[in-house]
Amino acid sequence: MQKKPILIANWKMNLSLEDARRLFLQFRKSIMSMKALRSQVIVCPAYVYLPELKKLLGRVQKISLGAQDVFYEQEGAYTGEVSSMMIAPFAQYSLVGHSERRAYFGETDDVVNRKVHALLNERQIPIVCIGEQLEDYQKGETADVLRRQLRGAIKNVPKSRILKIILAYEPVWSISTMSANPKTPTENEIMSVQLFLRKELSTIYTRAIAERIPILYGGSVNSRNVTTFVGSGKMDGALVGGASLRASEFLSILRKVNSSYSS
Ligand code: PGA
Repeated sequence: MQKKPILIANWKMNLSLEDARRLFLQFRKSIMSMKALRSQVIVCPAYVYLPELKKLLGRVQKISLGAQDVFYEQEGAYTGEVSSMMIAPFAQYSLVGHSERRAYFGETDDVVNRKVHALLNERQIPIVCIGEQLEDYQKGETADVLRRQLRGAIKNVPKSRILKIILAYEPVWSISTMSANPKTPTENEIMSVQLFLRKELSTIYTRAIAERIPILYGGSVNSRNVTTFVGSGKMDGALVGGASLRASEFLSILRKVNSSYSS
């Protein structure tokens, strides 16, 4: 059974309010006019733009909004933090454990796990990012790192809730902003990571559950390479950074993903 493909735009800390509005309206207009849209599109802007984009979205259901992070407590004396309860009126999703959070803000597997629970408690959907560093990849330790990060992130998440998560595999060496010379995995590498993660999930839960959890790929995705990563036997969608800041490029990625699922 094929799942609905998911395409996520991670805008990171980019765009002025005016530019964010313009880009979002371009997405909205084109996506509304796509008749056979099979994919689910999730846009993750900076927190402060969520209310405005929610307004611009109106009743359009083909696009959803997500945050780029949340804190694991709901309220309290945590200067500068934003909770899942606070984003709930605007965004149904949030990234957690992105490699930039892990690298620049010291986010550990334990912190990621607390954020996952905080989101699930608020009936929101965590997009859990995992991925190995270049050294791990070169030493052939990808599986060990992914196992540790995956198990850490979903620790104590019961069967009844695990279908509410989205998993994103983002090798750090492929992220355009994290590596001086980003490379991307081969189709075979993508297929074997996909199988490995499903096997891990079936060991923790059941095979049927493992089959249903969406697993996405992220790292230097563009309209030319997206079908290497997404499609039957590969990943269920993509998490797009840099290329999501250009409307025409993001929309052509979306069209490619759509058509790879329509045949
Ligand atoms: P990139 O970023 O597409 O610019 O490599 C992906 C990400 O960091 O989520």
